[in-house]
Amino acid sequence: EKGGYDWFMLKEIAEQPQAVADTLLGRHTVDGQLQLDEMRLSDDELRDVDKIIIVACGTASYAGLVAKYAIEHWTRIPCEVELASEFRYRDPILDRSTLVVSISQSGETMDTLMAIRYARQQRARVLSICNTNGSTIPRESDAVLYTHAGPEIAVASTKGFLSQIVACYLLGLYLAQVKGTKYGDEIADIVHELEKIPAGIQRMLDDADQVRKLAQDLVGSKSVLFLGRHVGFPVALEGALKLKELAYIHAEGFAAGELKHGPIAVIEEGVPVFVVVPPKARDQLQEKIVSNIQEIRARGARTIVLAEDGDEDVVPYADHLIRMPKVPTLLQPLVAAVPLQVFACELADQLGHDVDQPRNLAKSVTVE
Ligand code: M6R
Repeated sequence: EKGGYDWFMLKEIAEQPQAVADTLLGRHTVDGQLQLDEMRLSDDELRDVDKIIIVACGTASYAGLVAKYAIEHWTRIPCEVELASEFRYRDPILDRSTLVVSISQSGETMDTLMAIRYARQQRARVLSICNTNGSTIPRESDAVLYTHAGPEIAVASTKGFLSQIVACYLLGLYLAQVKGTKYGDEIADIVHELEKIPAGIQRMLDDADQVRKLAQDLVGSKSVLFLGRHVGFPVALEGALKLKELAYIHAEGFAAGELKHGPIAVIEEGVPVFVVVPPKARDQLQEKIVSNIQEIRARGARTIVLAEDGDEDVVPYADHLIRMPKVPTLLQPLVAAVPLQVFACELADQLGHDVDQPRNLAKSVTVE
């Protein structure tokens, strides 16, 4: 049933091109117009939305953090992301024009379920992004947008994560289309770029041997750090979470701009640091992160740099370079996450851990 793979996680990592393609399937026209009639919220209701709050746990919350950048950019609707476990304990401001978006692969996560119940009591509309048909969270929501990733068995979420980002993007683009916002003309372009993403993910999978070898080299690491900016920041958080949960080693993700505000103090000789470099086209973010790479390398970090094809600026400062296809900035997490998943999986395997069933963890956390 593992389809020839040693672990479900490996199988699910390999299924990601399909998971993304299936989540896109049937949800747009050939000319890039979104069609999400299945959602059960009318266009009028969506036009009313003046605030979005995403609630989720763990990896799903990182998909939400990625989505915030895209949703605010396309729709100009303020979007917050909150850990579901914190949400209802802080007296959030909710009303009929608030759209609460829950993200959950299993649809059974207790904290997320409690958050949406609370939101509905406060009269907010709840739309859930979920991978499991008929599970509790979609049943208790006003509207549902399913990810079509197929069953995810490994405790570590992989194809769930990528398909959640895609579903959030479909929602963001649809809202922009319905509201007719000024970035609406980007919709068809982004849809067409999304269509190319499965091939980009496949390329990352085809190149994964170098990542596996790197994991073997780094088996003795006590701590691994991850840096990113913009949508690369939640990717860094996700890379660190994967490593913690599978390899049981200390790992942390940082926003690269925060380095000087504290984290740079933990950089010491030989510590591996993954850096997700934004596309060059993106404002000055690429230049800024290149100088962050220089700074940490000067302090002895072993830099593992993820950069797009053709970015030569990073070459002198990369101890190890992982190339990614050129994609729009907002789509980069869909390719950048893949080597981080492979790395965590391989390192855990090398350490002799049960990759699919890490200690102390359950696939769905049905208690608070
Ligand atoms: O089923 P859910 O998406 O609601 O699960 C949320 C988290 O428990 C989940 O993503 C968890 O963080 C994973 N083990 C991460 O790999």
